Amino acid sequence: MIRQCLAQVPKEGKHRAKARIERGTPDDIFVSKLAGVKLDQAKQNTEEVKNNVTFNQSIERSLLSGGRTNYIQICAPFELYALTRLIKPKHVVEVGVSAGVSTAYLLHGLQKNGQGGVLHSIDLPEIQSRDLSAKQMLRASWALPPGKKSGWAVPKYLKKFWDLRLGRSSEVLPILVKEIHAIHLFVYDTPYEIDEAIVDFALVDKKLRKGSVALADNCLTPISWWARKRNAIIYQRKSSGFRGFRIA
Ligand SMILES: C[S@@+](CC[C@H](N)C(=O)[O-])C[C@H]1O[C@@H](n2cnc3c(N)ncnc32)[C@H](O)[C@@H]1O
Repeated sequence: MIRQCLAQVPKEGKHRAKARIERGTPDDIFVSKLAGVKLDQAKQNTEEVKNNVTFNQSIERSLLSGGRTNYIQICAPFELYALTRLIKPKHVVEVGVSAGVSTAYLLHGLQKNGQGGVLHSIDLPEIQSRDLSAKQMLRASWALPPGKKSGWAVPKYLKKFWDLRLGRSSEVLPILVKEIHAIHLFVYDTPYEIDEAIVDFALVDKKLRKGSVALADNCLTPISWWARKRNAIIYQRKSSGFRGFRIA
């Protein structure tokens, strides 16, 4: 199992607790290459969401309601939103939901598109133990706080675009791929075993179409294998292990 994406910066003690989404400058080049658009257009779309203070703060407030300040989450939520806006996917497939930061940004993009796109998410939830020590509470984790379900930080009004399926990816993906004719955007954000990821990717591969984009976080060997198989150029989001390619 390999992974560690984003840990939050806990500010406790005298400071007010704050659960934060990743606020680094979005990588517009990464978005433009993957979406096949000019840099200006990519930037316009990352800025659309970056400047949406109301939306960003609402996700942060929801995260805080889980009782911790630190959640492992995707390192590129703004880029996911921008890609959704630019690709205009009918079907997005995501593996790895946890609190639902990536989920919320993908759904927000679909809502803004207003073209009836659906996000199909798969999650095998891990539950946080009820009696964590103070030190453990500050450690970043994707485990769900007691009483919370996968995607608990996703705003209710976005859930109408959401098809959430609980279970192991290797069990759920074979069923899902039979139900949809194409996958236009794929996001893999789960602790993975190389063999399992390769089987998952082979299933998704059959549904990729011209212009589809596949992304995986901290999953170098399997995504590189997949891009090579597709003869596609692999792009890396700056300062991260988030990589993806586009079907030409
Ligand atoms: C890193 S978290 C996902 C973070 C999420 N993308 C976000 O941005 O907030 C990984 C999630 O994948 C789940 N998971 C672990 N193994 C899985 C598997 N084999 N299939 C599906 N989900 C899995 C974990 O329990 C966890 O909820």
